[in-house]
Amino acid sequence: MASDIVGGIQLEESILEVFDLTVIRSGNVIIKDIDLTVRKGEFVGIVGPNGSGKTTFLLAILGILKPQRGTVLIYKSPPMSRRLHKRIGWVSQAAANLPRDIRITVRELVRLGTLNSSNMFDWSDNGRREKVDKAIKMAGLQDVENTDIGRLSGGQRQRAVIARALATEADFILLDEPLVGIDRDARNSLLKLLDKLCHEEGKTILMVSHDLAAIRQTAHRMIFLEETIRFDGPTESFPDLEKLADLRGIEHVHAEGHDHQHDQKEGK
Ligand SMILES: Nc1ncnc2c1ncn2[C@@H]1O[C@H](COP(=O)(O)OP(=O)(O)OP(=O)(O)O)[C@@H](O)[C@H]1O
Ligand SMILES: [Mg+2]
Repeated sequence: MASDIVGGIQLEESILEVFDLTVIRSGNVIIKDIDLTVRKGEFVGIVGPNGSGKTTFLLAILGILKPQRGTVLIYKSPPMSRRLHKRIGWVSQAAANLPRDIRITVRELVRLGTLNSSNMFDWSDNGRREKVDKAIKMAGLQDVENTDIGRLSGGQRQRAVIARALATEADFILLDEPLVGIDRDARNSLLKLLDKLCHEEGKTILMVSHDLAAIRQTAHRMIFLEETIRFDGPTESFPDLEKLADLRGIEHVHAEGHDHQHDQKEGK
């Protein structure tokens, strides 16, 4: 099924459907009552304070964490099902922390993205070289393709991990804080790459970031998550800070002095 027709308007295929999701970790409710539909070609940004459950949400979507309640469907299938094999690209929060002492070049890392259990020992090329070339080119890493990943800058390393996800030809890409620890130029080129993937390659992107300005400049749709979804809408109607505080139930404390507890929770 390529698309749904609702009220005469043709909608793109839904890639991700989440219904009434609750995840408990170590006895604590981390996220609850989450409903979300993401359609093909959308670039969705997820923001929220530290510890608000963003990573937990992505792990539940991937099926790494089992929800206590609710359902996740990706291309109408439960997470981890065989049908989803190679269709999902995952760039974790720790991606940029690849061990520096591994001797592996950018090209080798990206090539790993093309391997799976069925072709691991098949030494013929089978179009893999082309996929690797294309992914390296899209991520703008041609100049460093034969460099060890340990010698790359943070931004280059982050792009190498994204290139590996691209080489799998996944069409749904989830990224957790891909902008952390990279400078402004690297950040801009990464955002441009993601934008291009979305617009030119029809990929669907779900990206978590603390960098509100950066995510606002690229995502079409924004989600503010703090235990549950408190805002979900087009980026241009994302609330300003004061309205955000209302959404979070934070009282304006200027009259009574400073809100230390809140500062601590933000941590940044
Ligand atoms: N393995 C775990 N067991 C129990 N609780 C956990 C575990 N990992 C995280 N938590 C708790 O779940 C809550 C949400 O964590 P999560 O990592 O999803 O937040 P986050 O929004 O991604 O934060 P950050 O912005 O710091 O990455 C936090 O209170 C955290 O302490
Ligand atoms: Mg996180």
